[in-house]
Amino acid sequence: MYDLIIRNARVVDGTGAPWYRADVAVEGGRIAAIGKLECEARETVDAEDHYLAPGFIDIHSHSDDSILACPSAESRILQGVTTEIAGNCGASRGPAPEGKEEGWPSMAAFLSAVERAKPSVNLGMLVGHGAVRACAMGYGAEKPTEAQLQRMRELVAEAMKAGAFGVSSGLIYPPSSYADTEELIEVAKAAAPYGGYYATHMRGEGKTVVRATEEAIRIAREAGVPLQISHHKVTWKPDWQVSCFTTTAMIERARRQGLEVFCDQYPYRASATTLSVNIPEWAFDGGVPALLERLRDPVLRARISDEMEASHVGRWGDIFVSYVTTEANQWMAGRSIPDIAQRMGKTPAEALIDIVIAENDHVGEISFGMCEEDIEHIMKKPYVMTGSDGGAMPLDAPGKPHPRNYGTFVRVLAHYCRERGLFPLETAVHKMTGLPAARLRLAERGAVKQGMWADLVLFDFDALRDTPDFANPQQACEGILKVYVNGVLTAENGRHTGAHAGVVLRRAQG
Ligand code: ZN
Ligand code: CU
Repeated sequence: MYDLIIRNARVVDGTGAPWYRADVAVEGGRIAAIGKLECEARETVDAEDHYLAPGFIDIHSHSDDSILACPSAESRILQGVTTEIAGNCGASRGPAPEGKEEGWPSMAAFLSAVERAKPSVNLGMLVGHGAVRACAMGYGAEKPTEAQLQRMRELVAEAMKAGAFGVSSGLIYPPSSYADTEELIEVAKAAAPYGGYYATHMRGEGKTVVRATEEAIRIAREAGVPLQISHHKVTWKPDWQVSCFTTTAMIERARRQGLEVFCDQYPYRASATTLSVNIPEWAFDGGVPALLERLRDPVLRARISDEMEASHVGRWGDIFVSYVTTEANQWMAGRSIPDIAQRMGKTPAEALIDIVIAENDHVGEISFGMCEEDIEHIMKKPYVMTGSDGGAMPLDAPGKPHPRNYGTFVRVLAHYCRERGLFPLETAVHKMTGLPAARLRLAERGAVKQGMWADLVLFDFDALRDTPDFANPQQACEGILKVYVNGVLTAENGRHTGAHAGVVLRRAQG
């Protein structure tokens, strides 16, 4: 007698192998049997010949920012994500320097807090280089002393011992961006004895993406760790359909030479980050309070404004405000910078500076910078997996968050696989299950196999639709029929069931 039998499913098992028809039995949260099952179960579900896949694994998440406030993680669950790896782009909520709001003193403390919050998804973490650097030496732009570098290594080792899967960098975000290549090699090296990998938001994704890819490969090679290039893309229009051929050739050469390189990618033409990313890096020296002080200083402000106008010629119209925190500025969400600037009677750079000051740097942007041809070129590569670069959000999240938070996985399946025909369904599913599981060395997730944890998604392939879009991002995807996390039904026909069956994932020790 099993807990559950899902009968008459087309099993897409996550390995990339062709689907086959079977019944799948679940017992004690795990897949107990697969095949033509005659036995009974406490509950029987008729899959009606729809596809049953492993729950999707989002290897590029920022849910450490929001999972404690939103443990039900609607944005993840309602698109079929059952596992996510947060702490990407150099930022992780643990460890945080003393006195930092919303931070935890260590990776272990943060993971325990997530456990207590009982999330609906399974969550694992990377340790952020920016977090570690801030703990060791604050928010300054200077080079670390030998003692500070040693402290960074210790903090990475400590986080790895607590179960982190690797170390991430965010080389456009201070303080992570202040690190030179040598510092990053040393920090990545500290994850090597624990089997960790190096994930990087590279130093450039526009004009300098080739040089940045070179640096990423060098860091991983010299540190002796596998490489994960985060959200691979090219955001510099003159180099569209050029640079991505170079970067993928470099990745393929590195792979041939024995470096384990993978990429993740989200399937949209727009990126999303903090609005202050447009401000020159030097203005961040010393952290956000120092930045805000410089923005208020008339002389420095003029210099910052001039530099921004010069670097943004022809680009302002691609940048939209996604969220603000003050009541007075809510009207800005979803509007472009030129539109907002005009309403404020200011230049785009001046408007941007005033918004960052008014919002205390808590303001987001969406920026259209990629082309479809590049997205498809990258997506087709066998070492590229799906990752949202989004996080856990409720259906009533304020503002206009990037639809990737809610729709990434269904968009790859519905648009790029079914409509564009880039690859078969089995390949698409592999990119969001078996492939990230292999990268993460998750032995018990990412496949529909006997003995694995029963993270499962049942979907109607023809009905799949990535309803979340830029105008209305906060929506459930269509066509996701059932989502199980550790054997527990967590979503049904676009509705969260209220189940909180997720666990904290810690990298297998040893
Ligand atoms: Zn990033
Ligand atoms: Cu990210």
